[in-house]
Amino acid sequence: MSLLTWNHACSVDVRAMDDQHGILMDTMNELRLALVHGCGREQVSELLDRLIEFTRMHFWSEEQLMEQTGFAGLEEHRAEHHRMLADILQSAHRLQYGEGVQLRPMLCSLHHGFLNHIETMDQKYAPWFQERGVN
Ligand SMILES: [Fe+2]
Ligand SMILES: [Fe+2]
Repeated sequence: MSLLTWNHACSVDVRAMDDQHGILMDTMNELRLALVHGCGREQVSELLDRLIEFTRMHFWSEEQLMEQTGFAGLEEHRAEHHRMLADILQSAHRLQYGEGVQLRPMLCSLHHGFLNHIETMDQKYAPWFQERGVN
């Protein structure tokens, strides 16, 4: 599993959101390192909780910005955030309670899910915010 890197192509042109996306990637990298170093369930669980809390906060921040600027795609975007968070919570719960979920494929799927969301849905709001001076 390679290190999850952040690059300019993933920018959404809103500094605070780019920073938050970077922190999400950093937290997933910490999880990856915990996996490589064979860290215990407790540490992995703590990192997962941190990822979940940060994801919740990040989704809320994006939705607030969309709401404040009257972005037409808000409800569709909110529904997708809701679906993603429910998925992460379900996987984390199954992992934490040892219900046959492996961290490695779960991390890969999380990483792809986040990147896909940023490159499709998040990048859709970039021009809208730019036109309104949110940067
Ligand atoms: Fe989003
Ligand atoms: Fe985002």
